[in-house]
Amino acid sequence: MSKQFDVIVIGGGPGGYIAAIRAAQLGFQVACIDEWKNDKGGPAPGGTCTNVGCIPSKALLQSSEHFEHANHHFADHGIKVSDVSIDVAKMIGRKDTVVKQNNDGILYLFKKNKVSFFHGRGSFVKAVDGGYEIQVAGSANETLTGKQIIIATGSNARALPGTPFDEVKVLSNDGALRINAVPKKLALIGSGVIGLEMGSVWRRLGSEVTILEGLPTFLGAVDEQIAKEAKKAFDKQGLKIELGVKVGEIKTTDAGVSVAYTNAKGEALSLDVDKLIVSIGRVPNTIGLNVEAVGLQLDERGAIVVDGDCKTNLPGVWAVGDVVRGPMLAHKAEEEGVAVAERIAGQHGHVNFNTIPWVIYTSPEIAWVGRTEQQLKADGVKYKAGTFPFLANGRARALGDTTGMVKFLADATTDEILGVHIVGPMASELIAEAVVAMEFKASAEDIARICHAHPSLSEATKEAALAVDKRTLNF
Ligand code: FAD
Ligand code: NAI
Repeated sequence: MSKQFDVIVIGGGPGGYIAAIRAAQLGFQVACIDEWKNDKGGPAPGGTCTNVGCIPSKALLQSSEHFEHANHHFADHGIKVSDVSIDVAKMIGRKDTVVKQNNDGILYLFKKNKVSFFHGRGSFVKAVDGGYEIQVAGSANETLTGKQIIIATGSNARALPGTPFDEVKVLSNDGALRINAVPKKLALIGSGVIGLEMGSVWRRLGSEVTILEGLPTFLGAVDEQIAKEAKKAFDKQGLKIELGVKVGEIKTTDAGVSVAYTNAKGEALSLDVDKLIVSIGRVPNTIGLNVEAVGLQLDERGAIVVDGDCKTNLPGVWAVGDVVRGPMLAHKAEEEGVAVAERIAGQHGHVNFNTIPWVIYTSPEIAWVGRTEQQLKADGVKYKAGTFPFLANGRARALGDTTGMVKFLADATTDEILGVHIVGPMASELIAEAVVAMEFKASAEDIARICHAHPSLSEATKEAALAVDKRTLNF
């Protein structure tokens, strides 16, 4: 006899666990199935984000930033430290504790919201009258029946053709977060979000880091002016980024890894390193779902085909997060999860794709929402731009971190904010104001007229909004 649910969620990452909680809040009987195992074989809900993504990477970024400050910045404050060293095992152990706290937090939330959790792999068996039969295989071996199914099975790291991850020398994001000693030389392929974040961690801890990027432009999706400013800062830090390369043969040797590549000038070179991190994007994950049993449609990339409301080609089957189109971000997955649960309840859940913020947690941080200047030009939109440098912000000077700027782009006629781009301290937090403003269709003038606390980094946001109308007060 199978267990009956109103909603079955397959995948317990940010898309899945949040969808399950919201559906339970709306009064549904909900099951969430997730197969992630901790090192003892027990459940570890939270998906990529919690286990090998957002959370552990930010834990290591924090530890390595403390190390960098102790080594290079404390002296400016008159703080003398000697013999600064890093205990990598302890740092990794702390990261694992942070991850576990998050896993346990999700299990607690499932209990609190009466979501039934099943640890194992979920797969379609067949469509049944008024729903679908789902099999769970793993720690739990059960057959469940759900009227509505939400698929949130996430994504996996993309490997270079012919170079599988061994997670010892050739690492995906998983192995990159478990390196147990500072590599003398580290190479990364791909200077996207993971390349820059992971490259920063190990550079701060003392590795000689080279990032090989295939495209000729640095961070092509980022506003050009902001990307240029960020690149300047990374160059100064000694993060070596080679653009326009073509990666050739990759050989693992006793000593490490040898990467053959052609640089932008067409010169054939090779790089010998202790470890190689491959961060060239991610692929949607539908492995083991048995989509054929029910005829669930996938696209040519293997992503589940959905409409704007996350509906698949099958009645009562929805999909959210990395396994569908759109940015592969935890908060995007969460918003889709909430919206789908609300749609199942007959409500009007919505996700505004135009106001999804992006953050790269390097130092300086890079954050943005809305369109870039190059996109506005390409779209033929008439706009006004305003920038304000952190160098002219009192709080940034007090912090000793004056790199970067805030940049506003507003419609030339209506003054509506079209994009906000930040490179600098706490950009990840500052961007929230811009997201709220854009969600409420605010004008640059609206932000310029709002009282911001002094001294605070957020004053740079207000000043950049003033700069749109060429009336900055402090620059
Ligand atoms: P996932 O988090 O991948 O979760 C899917 C879950 O489903 C997994 O637990 C998986 O085991 C499970 N599953 C899959 N198939 C089955 C099955 N058949 N049965 C049962 N369970 C199954 N995003 C941000 O917004 N901010 C960040 O700072 C950030 N940092 C990142 C850093 C790294 C190194 C990486 C790799 C990613 C980062 N991301 C970040 C991206 C973020 O992790 C993803 O966008 C997010 O996890 C997607 O959520 P999801 O729920 O769609 O899928
Ligand atoms: P990415 O898409 O951000 O960057 C991949 C980079 O690799 C690109 O610059 C691409 O041009 C380059 N590339 C692709 N193939 C190549 C090749 N053969 N040789 C050389 N360069 C090549 O992907 P990444 O960094 O793997 O991250 C995956 C996703 O995870 C991100 O897109 C993002 O959605 C998410 N993520 C989000 C974070 C955040 O929000 N802070 C942090 C880390 C990941």
